[in-house]
Amino acid sequence: PEKIRLVHQKRKVMLTAHRGASGVAPENTLAAIQKALDSPADFIEIDIHQTQDSQLVVMHDATLDRTTTGQGAIAAHTLADIKKLDAGSWFKPEFKNEQVPTLEEVLRLVKGRKKLLIELKKGRDFYPGMANQVIALLRQYRAREWCVLQSFHDEILQQIWQNEYHVPTHKLMVGKLPLLPVYFDTSLRFGSFDKYYRASAINVHYYFASRRFVKMVHNAGFKTFVWTVDDPAEINKLVNRGVDGIMSNAAATLAVE
Ligand code: G3P
Ligand code: CA
Repeated sequence: PEKIRLVHQKRKVMLTAHRGASGVAPENTLAAIQKALDSPADFIEIDIHQTQDSQLVVMHDATLDRTTTGQGAIAAHTLADIKKLDAGSWFKPEFKNEQVPTLEEVLRLVKGRKKLLIELKKGRDFYPGMANQVIALLRQYRAREWCVLQSFHDEILQQIWQNEYHVPTHKLMVGKLPLLPVYFDTSLRFGSFDKYYRASAINVHYYFASRRFVKMVHNAGFKTFVWTVDDPAEINKLVNRGVDGIMSNAAATLAVE
């Protein structure tokens, strides 16, 4: 297979293990994060939600159904209940002992050995106090040097910016419309990122990362990390366009030049 190049015009492009090394282990579990730590990735991306008893857990979906043996909303379950679930078998039987990790467990495992890109999700509603909880944990674990916070939701970014000036933030911009096979976001059409001046990057689906887009975000003073790209030829194309980060499910198996 083609090797990927992660240097462009003398700058290193940040390979980011999306949901941990989610191509070889169940996404957002400690197994996937350990494999990402052993991979060439610079960053590890995870998603977080809040339980009924206000604990922060690492999962992509707002509901338990797809990646655990449980059912229903994370927000309707306590951490103790969620910890009883199997978060690995859906991926491969050998991962049947994997649990849903807490954000704290991930901070303790990563310990600054790689950068952590934490995506703050919402459930049906926003989770009360979530941004402040994350900030408090990063302070407690002295993790502000090696963590970045990102969200699709301006409300969440605002809450971070009100409270924390040190941790970098990334604005996620593009969502998938349910019935269309393309990614779309109205804000992109206007190309104005002014209200995100506190963010250091505008992260889009790679479909939107044209040369023109990359130039536009760079001229506006932002970096851009694009998701989710596993094909080496596609990754090299995006690197040549000047993107700053590549989020990939294949971080543990890509051959890096
Ligand atoms: O970090 C970008 C990407 O993870 C956003 O989409 O659905 O995988 O969280 P999603
Ligand atoms: Ca994510």
